[in-house]
Amino acid sequence: MHIASVGINKLCFCLSLALSGLLLLLPCLRPSPRPLVLPLPKAQFRPPTNSTHRNLNVTPAEVPLKRKGIDAPSTGHVKHEPLNIEDIFIAVKTTRKYHRSRLELLIQTWVSQAKRQTYIFTDGEDKDLQLRTGTNLINTNCSAAHTRQALCCKMSVEYDKFIESQKKWFCHMDDDNYVLLPSLLQLLSSYHHSQDVYLGRPSLDHPIEASEKVKSNGLMSVQFWFATGGAGFCISRGLALKMSPWASLGNFISTAEKIRLPDDCTIGYIIEALLEVKLTHTLLFHSHLENLRKLPPETVVDQVTLSYGGFKNRRNVVSVGGRFSLAEDPTR
Ligand SMILES: *[C@@H]1O[C@H](CO)[C@@H](O)[C@H](O)[C@H]1NC(C)=O
Ligand SMILES: *[C@@H]1O[C@H](CO)[C@@H](O)[C@H](O)[C@H]1NC(C)=O
Repeated sequence: MHIASVGINKLCFCLSLALSGLLLLLPCLRPSPRPLVLPLPKAQFRPPTNSTHRNLNVTPAEVPLKRKGIDAPSTGHVKHEPLNIEDIFIAVKTTRKYHRSRLELLIQTWVSQAKRQTYIFTDGEDKDLQLRTGTNLINTNCSAAHTRQALCCKMSVEYDKFIESQKKWFCHMDDDNYVLLPSLLQLLSSYHHSQDVYLGRPSLDHPIEASEKVKSNGLMSVQFWFATGGAGFCISRGLALKMSPWASLGNFISTAEKIRLPDDCTIGYIIEALLEVKLTHTLLFHSHLENLRKLPPETVVDQVTLSYGGFKNRRNVVSVGGRFSLAEDPTR
């Protein structure tokens, strides 16, 4: 036993010597000193057209007001733009059944301060509301169902109407959003409408991963950030024009079909994945999915959008003082 084990030990020693020698002689057989790093999945996908778009990029300006919750673009010089509320195209997406319960509230409150530049996109005629309140009510003729197709159909009409309007900024809102117009104006005036600007609150803490249909061989994975539609988001005219091949005249619907995702994700897909423009993350937009009670009351007026309600908590509202009780102002 003892002898045999020594013999084996010797044999092992010789073998390992021989092997080390071999390894030294053949450097290519030596283990690589570099740790194995797999390439990270590419977040971007090249647009199917030639790259003339990308060369038109304007240097992003620095955000002069370093307000809480906004990512400042890191390079370039500051460009101030005197901006008027008239320069903003505000699209509000709604549906026929919420004309009374939701729209009336908006029309009585913030919409009344921006009646001419607010366009309400719905799915049914309501001449009475239009005449009585003098609002721009647009019947998209899209289905009233809360489906991906119907939502994308409305977004497609919103986009086309914005392009037609010649205004500098496109801001999409939902019918449960309260927009603080002075904050919106202040936020947008720290950019220039000819820059590529996509502003909003990311709905996830990571980029979404989607599969896009490619002509030749089936599906391709793509990753991008998107601003949640329920909190509202804004796009500069410069960027909106570049989106045209995938967004105008019904192309938005076919783009959405390609990745089979809702309207707000499709906007993110066009901007981040196809045009390679980054979403500027801002926490000043709020959807009903957040717990808005947690918002410190003194910061409420600095926010750009607020929302109310939610799946679990019908009373998800901000805490504010003042004259009206929660019973009188249930959606505050
Ligand atoms: C590429 O861009 C040029 C200049 O805008 C345009 O004339 C040409 O048709 C484009 N080519 C393709 C394949 O889109
Ligand atoms: C919806 O249909 C009506 C009647 O056909 C038409 O006048 C209107 O322009 C359509 N709306 C849109 C946004 O296409």
